[in-house]
Amino acid sequence: MREDLLGYIQSELADIRQAGLYKNERVLLSPQQTHLQVAEGEVLNFCANNYLGLANHPELIEAGKKALDRYGFGMASVRFICGTHEIHKQLEDRISRFLGMEDTILYSSCFDANAGLFEALLNEQDAIISDRLNHASIIDGTRLCKAARFRYNHADMGHLETQLQRAAKSRFKLIATDGVFSMDGDVAPLGEICQLAEAYGAWVMVDDSHATGFFGDTGRGSIEYRKVMGRVSIITSTFGKALGGSSGGFTSGAGEVVQLLRQRSRPYLFSNTLSPVVAAVSLKAIEIIERSPDLLQKLRDNTAGFREQMAAAGFSLPPGDHPIIPIMLGDAAVARQMAENLLKEGVYVIGFSFPVVPKGAARIRLQISSAHNKQDIERAVAAFTKVRDTMNLPSR
Ligand SMILES: Cc1ncc(COP(=O)(O)O)c(C=O)c1O
Repeated sequence: MREDLLGYIQSELADIRQAGLYKNERVLLSPQQTHLQVAEGEVLNFCANNYLGLANHPELIEAGKKALDRYGFGMASVRFICGTHEIHKQLEDRISRFLGMEDTILYSSCFDANAGLFEALLNEQDAIISDRLNHASIIDGTRLCKAARFRYNHADMGHLETQLQRAAKSRFKLIATDGVFSMDGDVAPLGEICQLAEAYGAWVMVDDSHATGFFGDTGRGSIEYRKVMGRVSIITSTFGKALGGSSGGFTSGAGEVVQLLRQRSRPYLFSNTLSPVVAAVSLKAIEIIERSPDLLQKLRDNTAGFREQMAAAGFSLPPGDHPIIPIMLGDAAVARQMAENLLKEGVYVIGFSFPVVPKGAARIRLQISSAHNKQDIERAVAAFTKVRDTMNLPSR
């Protein structure tokens, strides 16, 4: 029996390798930052979610050290037994104020926030209407919930309306969407989504992991960018990207929503929350964002500069102004080879292909950071151009 299962696991692994989908992990020899030390030497990093360059910021390091001295590093308990420090309450309060929501609950990841959301609020009398391209954690969260599930084609408002009509008999309806979709960097049409929600008596939930802290005029995220603050009922997001990049997530909403999550949400009830060190660092990240509009402007400038230069160099990239930038290549083998060649040029990027993106839509996805400088951007564009030309690939 033991051998049977092991044999099965081995054949699954062989299949994953055969399909070219086996994921290797590159070991970083320096902190997470734009100029990274890896086994191959120093590389310019364009594949982290370190949008504001805070992952190795001196003020965050200092805040972490102080918290370590003051609180120790571990809670050794779930929140409701013996695991809440004042710093957790301060962070929850700060996020609520930052996003203009009534209350906030912390989780050890945004994955957990999404996994623990739907089941705690809805049951078989209700319906969740979810964008087809939503993050895996929303998909898993909805699977754990007994509500009826309706999926609408990505960002297709006609289809969303059809699904809302199909869900008409449900007691409560909740529309769930990523604020920004990670493979294309496109922003959910939240204005139209909120309008439909209001017309059909539904709530809107937005996972803003790829927007909180840096997107929109003051970093409030896609809800600010799309001017729907106050119209979205539930926001989930992460500390693992722009807000210091370590770990942790949260759900913000009405006071009653958060109260019920504290009573019922399983990843909250049965798992430790953030270390106080992470809570202190995340608080510092928000403080820096609120007092440094220049940091957000630098990200916008870097993003616009890179997009313009790549388009001028003849690369195919969808329009937009988010720092997630897909360079469309089509063929999976080309994307993989190009990423390898770019690494040899000292530019670290990742190729994505089916099943992560649709067949024939393979790409290299870059993520721009405020911590990049003009030279970094120019170097990346030059490396892309050189590699494309040596691979004899056509320009757009
Ligand atoms: C849209 C979205 N939601 C949730 C998550 C998970 O966040 P965390 O790393 O905090 O679990 C991610 C991270 O990949 C994400 O992109």
